[in-house]
Amino acid sequence: DTGHITLDRGFMNTASCFSSITYLDGDKGILNYRGYSIEDLAANCSFVEVSYLILHGELPNYQELEHFRHDMNRFALLHEDMIHFFDHFPPNASPMSILSTTINSLHNFYPEMTAKTDPYGGISVTTARLLAKVRTIAAFSYKKSNGYPLVYPSHKLNYCENFLNMMFDRPNIPYEIKPEVTAALNKLLILHADHEQNCSTSTVRLVGSAQVNLYASISAGVSALWGPLHGGANQAVIEMLEEIHESGDDYNYYIEKAKDKNDPFRLAGFGHRVYKTFDPRARIIKEACHEMLASMNVHDPLLDIAFELEERVLRDDYFISRNLYPNVDFYSGIIYRAMGIPTDMFTVMFALGRLPGWIAQWTEMHADPNTKIGRPRQIYTGYKQRAFVPMYER
Ligand code: SDX
Repeated sequence: DTGHITLDRGFMNTASCFSSITYLDGDKGILNYRGYSIEDLAANCSFVEVSYLILHGELPNYQELEHFRHDMNRFALLHEDMIHFFDHFPPNASPMSILSTTINSLHNFYPEMTAKTDPYGGISVTTARLLAKVRTIAAFSYKKSNGYPLVYPSHKLNYCENFLNMMFDRPNIPYEIKPEVTAALNKLLILHADHEQNCSTSTVRLVGSAQVNLYASISAGVSALWGPLHGGANQAVIEMLEEIHESGDDYNYYIEKAKDKNDPFRLAGFGHRVYKTFDPRARIIKEACHEMLASMNVHDPLLDIAFELEERVLRDDYFISRNLYPNVDFYSGIIYRAMGIPTDMFTVMFALGRLPGWIAQWTEMHADPNTKIGRPRQIYTGYKQRAFVPMYER
């Protein structure tokens, strides 16, 4: 502490803003969006309905929802010139890199779509447009990476049906949209929709506080989410479970490795900055995982490994003493796998879900007249001022 400046690494004990969007209780494992519990929302709503709630603060009535859906359909296409973007990424390009790059470029094609000046009706339409276009970007990047023809959004399908159809439908092999899959996808996206001031949301607010446009702020949020300590963990979980499977289920090797202070390895999908008990989202996803795989009659050995690993970790003093429980990323990848979504797109799925939250938080920040540009201080540990040394003396 030097005078009025206090060091707070990772901002663990610092509130960066007032917000009325999401409430977390890390000790009780409670998560509410605009006062509604995620348990109620995940059981009764579509992702589009919850996106509207997070943005506007109220659940939409029938007309409001239909209007929101209509806007989403109206703006679901990308400018055809943007489609050439996908031709110039190498085949193994990371979908998160494509997503961040392409979202940032939306500003060049749709400069009118920054929330404050959107002639079409402000943040609601901007959100519908971004949700629709980002879904299209995600599906197009997948199709392009496989060399398959693009499938365009259809006005006959809702948000999740369109996403799955654009990802997996092909002219020669039609994709069958299964209700249990779209139901699981809606639930997953709802559970990712917002989470107060996590790393990527704080990034969106910080970048936005410099008065930069919405797309650049969201693009920065995508980059932060990419990290394996954050949204990238859902991909790291599957890679870890596959390694355990290939090792002949050598759980102890990985559990001991995660405890070893000299080893940077951590158990992906465990632990959380705020939750010091079960992440409520992980509970719902674990159940949805079980239900969907059973209804599809799919047996994934990684699910058995996940259950066994969770069992062992929750019995282990090292993890118990540090309040380390499964988090939102631990089971989500297993559901995405069963849907046929490739592992390198799991964090893109997290971004699709988090998009309404990022937009709502960015909008809330701009609506607050007391918002200031984000600019933390530091504790200086370098040299005191010293005399200059000319080149001939160095
Ligand atoms: C998300 O913030 C959000 O809300 C994020 C998120 C959202 O919706 O936006 O919830 C989404 O990012 C979930 C988290 C996904 N990340 C992972 O699963 C990666 C693995 N988890 C960790 O790296 C870690 O738990 C974090 C990053 C999630 C939280 O880190 P913290 O709060 O900074 O805690 P820490 O690193 O200080 O750990 C405390 C102790 C340490 O041991 P000691 O130094 O006290 O001896 O717990 C240990 C850590 O070594 N620890 C782990 C561990 N997580 C913490 N040890 C082994 N395996 C782990 N997974």
